[in-house]
Amino acid sequence: MLVFLGPPGAGKGTQARVISKELGIPHISTGDILREAVRKETSLGLAAKAKMDRGDLVPDDVISGIVEERIGEPDCREGAILDGFPRTIAQAQFLDQVLQRSGRNNVLLLNLQLDPKVVIKRLAGRRTCSKCGEIYNIYFNPPRQEGICDKDGGPLVQRKDDNEETIRQRLLAYEQETVPLIEYYRRKNALHDINGNGEPEAITERLLGILKNA
Ligand code: AP5
Repeated sequence: MLVFLGPPGAGKGTQARVISKELGIPHISTGDILREAVRKETSLGLAAKAKMDRGDLVPDDVISGIVEERIGEPDCREGAILDGFPRTIAQAQFLDQVLQRSGRNNVLLLNLQLDPKVVIKRLAGRRTCSKCGEIYNIYFNPPRQEGICDKDGGPLVQRKDDNEETIRQRLLAYEQETVPLIEYYRRKNALHDINGNGEPEAITERLLGILKNA
């Protein structure tokens, strides 16, 4: 199981999509699962919406059961990439228990590190294809035609939580709830730090280098 950690905008989703194709294992983004639930107005979506709009984390018990169910599906038998989970120490302990119960305690933790100043520009410039989920950036990785996905012509949209006020709150939630998790993993000597600055392809190479040696 691969776990991508890092602040909002560090490039977790961008890299997880590439590595998922490279390794042939599913990419599980808890943010994407929650956004889909909000779009469909399911009970999960209704429970999560206000927290997500504010930039706060949704409660551990809401998200943990969903992850347990998803990684228990047959396509995750050979592994999966978790992007955005765990985000708190309680979620990490829950994940440990679930993986131990299924005899899969081989976890690689990849921590993408990025300067907060860069984070804000990356998030403000992010646009996502509403059809296929491809991620763009109007400053760093623009589509060939403004507002249109290069891959399938789908319209590009801006995430509701990518506004300045919510970004600030997401960074605060990261500092308060996820930084202690990173320190918890660091104390266990289980963390691989990756410099998240540079071209996306260079970062993919850094990640693949770690995976080859692991
Ligand atoms: P989530 O969707 O997980 O958001 P996040 O953690 O804030 O992370 P992002 O998706 O913003 O960033 P990313 O690192 O994936 O960056 P990306 O690759 O897109 O969560 C959203 C919300 O859901 C949370 O606030 C919370 O409410 C809830 N939630 C989710 N999981 C939860 C959990 N476990 N517990 C509780 N609540 C949970 O890149 C960003 C931009 O930068 C893009 O435009 C991209 O093109 C660009 N970019 C990427 N790499 C580069 C590069 N190397 N150079 C230049 N630009 C780059």
